[in-house]
Amino acid sequence: MKVFYKNKSLQESLTNLKRSASIGFIPTMGALHKGHLSLIKKASTENKIIVVSIFVNPTQFDKKEDLINYPKTLENDLALLRTVNCDIVFAPTVDEIYNGNAIASHFDFDGLEFQMEGKHRKGHFDGVGTIVKRFFEIVKPHKAYFGEKDFQQLQIIKKLVDKHNIPVQIIGCKIFREDDGLAMSSRNVRLTKVQRKEAPFIHKTLKKAKEKFKEYSISEIVKWVENEFEKNDVLNLEYFEISNIKNLKSAKRKSKKAIYRGFIAVFAGNIRLIDNIALN
Ligand code: PAF
Repeated sequence: MKVFYKNKSLQESLTNLKRSASIGFIPTMGALHKGHLSLIKKASTENKIIVVSIFVNPTQFDKKEDLINYPKTLENDLALLRTVNCDIVFAPTVDEIYNGNAIASHFDFDGLEFQMEGKHRKGHFDGVGTIVKRFFEIVKPHKAYFGEKDFQQLQIIKKLVDKHNIPVQIIGCKIFREDDGLAMSSRNVRLTKVQRKEAPFIHKTLKKAKEKFKEYSISEIVKWVENEFEKNDVLNLEYFEISNIKNLKSAKRKSKKAIYRGFIAVFAGNIRLIDNIALN
């Protein structure tokens, strides 16, 4: 496994590879867990060369405190990557990527960026679009892998490559969960014992909402989820929405043809957890 910190040396190494070697790319912000490893595993069945980036992208954080508290564990991450099928790690500094000017470009994602996470984290998807586009330009992967836990991000990245004609195939991968159902996230390590014990309540509630989707109206299910969280002393609901996966707009009533998912964001103290579930 080779580790690069500079764009130039990474690009030189990638150019020296056979042109026919397909490159699978997994962009991450580090603090790697089994969910990331499952993306790498899937990528290695479909590509010859696996590239993983580790970069805590400052321009996608709407709160300075969240950026400061985001876990940074490069040495552990590299040790973990050495145990799996990873050929190349790219771990640049902020300056290497942003050249002293860590500002996001502005993107039009046809309105996907204004829903849910975009509503609650201003500028977040401009930051994500900026860094993912930059990485695609540097790495030039054939396929790139993203988890469905960040389902809105996945849809936005598909829109990004479509609108900017970037020649990469975007592969969405199923949410990887702990045994008790909690969606794997780099933020989970920050949970206190009490918060960690309570956190599976998020997925449990989503599963019940899915059951209710067969019988109840959207507004009844949303109200029910809100009530469930009102009774919970540890977790604070930021939003629960049922959205059509095409435009990610919060749906008011069900249409037979549409595909819906339930999306949730919850605070455990100041740690923000998101999750989602397919409803039909
Ligand atoms: O999902 C993430 O970890 C980040 O948003 C990504 C895609 C690596 C961009 O910084």
